[in-house]
Amino acid sequence: MRHRGPRTRGARRPRRWLPRPVPALLGRRPRGAPRARGVRRARPRRGLLRPARRVEAAPVSGGPLRLAVLVSGSGTNLQALLDAPAAPFEVVVVGADREDTGGVERARARGIPTFVCRVADHPDRAGWDAALARSLATHDVDLVVSAGFMKVLGPQVLAAHRVVNTHPALLPSFPGAHGVRDALAHGVRVTGCTCHWVDAGVDTGPVIDQRAVRVEDGDTVETLHERIKVQERAMLVEVLTRLASDRSWR
Ligand code: GRF
Repeated sequence: MRHRGPRTRGARRPRRWLPRPVPALLGRRPRGAPRARGVRRARPRRGLLRPARRVEAAPVSGGPLRLAVLVSGSGTNLQALLDAPAAPFEVVVVGADREDTGGVERARARGIPTFVCRVADHPDRAGWDAALARSLATHDVDLVVSAGFMKVLGPQVLAAHRVVNTHPALLPSFPGAHGVRDALAHGVRVTGCTCHWVDAGVDTGPVIDQRAVRVEDGDTVETLHERIKVQERAMLVEVLTRLASDRSWR
């Protein structure tokens, strides 16, 4: 029980189970000591880069952030990453869930290692998840980017990697494989794109950034998606630049 009565000189502190933390070792000012001039009290940061779950801060490594990019389609988001000038990140491998994707072609054209991991080549989804995790494990990546990858990632990949996804709608509205079509069908006048951390759900993880795009009269799924993708590519490059600069999310 805590000692509450007046403490007389020399009276012993009640024993605690744990040693008291030493403020200096924690980078804190000892109780009662004056605050240094010009030093502001550190406040918990709640920036857009902060994922919902608590993660330990990791030291910022000197090199570029090593990215694995997962694709299923044409790979224009991947191309934006490859073309980003003086980027603090580097695409070290590109993976696809099907043969003959434009994304894999774009990677090959740059001499970047690629792999294809098809669900159909495995007895079940868990086997595919394990195979994808093995493919990624051979490339020493810091972050996985799902850039038009049309599969829900499994628990093995998610346990081994932080994953960022880009989605062509303003989440939490219109999640899933048809975000552009669903937004248009709903009649919204503004939609856009979202970059978010991936969790076990479908487009449910914490939002990192978003861009708004107006729906124009006469828009089709294709015309609207093309305008969204212009914003999406810029957003993805910007988000990854920020994540490469502040690696406290690791
Ligand atoms: C992007 O709009 C992405 O959000 C969606 O599919 C599109 C992929 O485009 N899931 P690309 O393959 O990067 O050109």
